[in-house]
Amino acid sequence: METENLPRHIGFIMDGNGRWAKKRAMPRNFGHKQGAAVFKKTVNWCRELGVQAATFYAFSTENWKRPEDEVKGIMNLLRQYIKDIRAMAREDVRFIFIGDLSRFDEDIRVELADITETSKENRGFIAGVALNYGGRAEITNAAKLLAQRCVSGELKPDDITEEVFERELYTAEFPPLDLVIRPSGEQRLSNFLIWQAAYAEFVFMDVLWPDFKKKDLKSAIEEYAHRSRRFGGV
Ligand code: IPE
Ligand code: IPE
Ligand code: MG
Repeated sequence: METENLPRHIGFIMDGNGRWAKKRAMPRNFGHKQGAAVFKKTVNWCRELGVQAATFYAFSTENWKRPEDEVKGIMNLLRQYIKDIRAMAREDVRFIFIGDLSRFDEDIRVELADITETSKENRGFIAGVALNYGGRAEITNAAKLLAQRCVSGELKPDDITEEVFERELYTAEFPPLDLVIRPSGEQRLSNFLIWQAAYAEFVFMDVLWPDFKKKDLKSAIEEYAHRSRRFGGV
């Protein structure tokens, strides 16, 4: 494994759980359960390979459109998974939950706030989990926060630079997003980290997320290492 040109921050679009379950004639939530197990392994693989941070797209602002029993199943899975997240946080992983958490039930919100607080000094790895997350909602929220600061007189519209704007995004404390990996064969962002991905590299893979393995992560990172990032220069 090359250690040069490692991505600092990888975004994972954990897609394909439903198709994975369908192939096995199982309910979609069986796929989500398997997908959650792969999330945990992927955090460890990223750490082992020397990546500093990863953000996992777990539930989008658009996913509320799904049938009620699927949404309920995902919420219950999140409840069960909180224990595993706590165990990971005890191993020096800092958890940052990005998205509008206000739409989640109180018990989930309390747990997530507590994990965020108790893991905030952890330095081993930053794991972002995107829940009720949408890139457009995130940008709209940042604009709202900046507008409020202007109204209160703390800030002038001319003070708003890209750097000032970025500090109001959920990812203010993450290293720059270098790579987005999307399994499942779809080739789109689906509203994931749209500001942050402006100059990220993309690797789309045919594997379904529940089948995602360490070798797939390695191959995506190797592909990234060979890309020439020019950022508009020559
Ligand atoms: C991604 O897998 C998980 C969530 C969106 C919660 P999907 O459920 O979208 O799986 P497919 O795309 O239907 O196979
Ligand atoms: C993106 O997957 C959201 C998550 C993985 C949480 P979707 O399955 O919701 O995206 P679309 O509908 O294929 O664009
Ligand atoms: Mg999908």
